[in-house]
Amino acid sequence: MKLVHSLAELREEIASHKKSQKSIGFVPTMGALHEGHASLMREARENNDFVVLSIFVNPTQFGVNEDFSKYPRTLPEDCKIAEASGVDLVFAPSAEEMYPLGFQTYIEVGKVAEPLCGKFRPGHFRGVTTVVNRLFNLIEPTRAYFGQKDIQQCLVLLRMVKDFGSPVELVICPTIREKDGLAMSSRNRYLSATERKKSLVIYRALQAVELLHQQGETEVAELSLAAEQELARVPEFELQYLEILSYPDLEKIETVKDQAVIAIAGFLGKTRLIDNSIL
Ligand code: PAJ
Repeated sequence: MKLVHSLAELREEIASHKKSQKSIGFVPTMGALHEGHASLMREARENNDFVVLSIFVNPTQFGVNEDFSKYPRTLPEDCKIAEASGVDLVFAPSAEEMYPLGFQTYIEVGKVAEPLCGKFRPGHFRGVTTVVNRLFNLIEPTRAYFGQKDIQQCLVLLRMVKDFGSPVELVICPTIREKDGLAMSSRNRYLSATERKKSLVIYRALQAVELLHQQGETEVAELSLAAEQELARVPEFELQYLEILSYPDLEKIETVKDQAVIAIAGFLGKTRLIDNSIL
């Protein structure tokens, strides 16, 4: 496995692999890697000749009061996980490489980026699409791998790729959870022991909705109520949103007809947690 930091080194590596017309699987991350990330790398390894992982804590997707400066940076440990997961090339650029002086072109996806996290993290998806597009241009992957954990991010990027007519195939991989159900996240390490226990409330709320839906309930008001009742059992969980929207357009619905997504976000102490389930 090779680790490169500069665009020049990355271009050289990619060019030599392009010559042999091999497929490139790409996994973009912000590091602090865990089993959720590793599952994406393994999926990329299985289906491509060459696997590229990027590690970049992207400043443009963090709001002013968010955790950019304290976001965990663990490059040596990340490289060990990457190597064990079959990655060929790690690209870990500096902010100066990704956003050179004078940078001023941003990508904004429309409607699908507006609800859920779009409402509570203004500018977040603009930062995500801008950096992912830049990485796609540099790496020219055959396939790129994303986690369902960040479902709106997947849908926003699918829209971007479609609207640009770009040839990359996006692969959405299932959410990897801790044994007790908490969705793995780089931010889970911020949780105190008590908060960690209370964090299960999100998964329980999702499960309550899944169960009710399986039993035949399709009214969004009823399904939401089941989630609200679960969430109310942990008053410390400060809810940002609990929404059931159409999938994949993320539009308001009153009844679940085809596919829908239930998405939850909120804070436990200072830690923001999100999770979702597709119904
Ligand atoms: P990051 O939060 O590091 O996540 C990188 C990828 O791992 C994303 O596709 C995310 O959905 C996926 N992932 C995270 N936790 C997961 C879990 N428990 N199970 C499955 N997949 C999981 O998402 C980002 O970084 C950034 O926004 C990025 C796309 C890299 C752009 O900066």
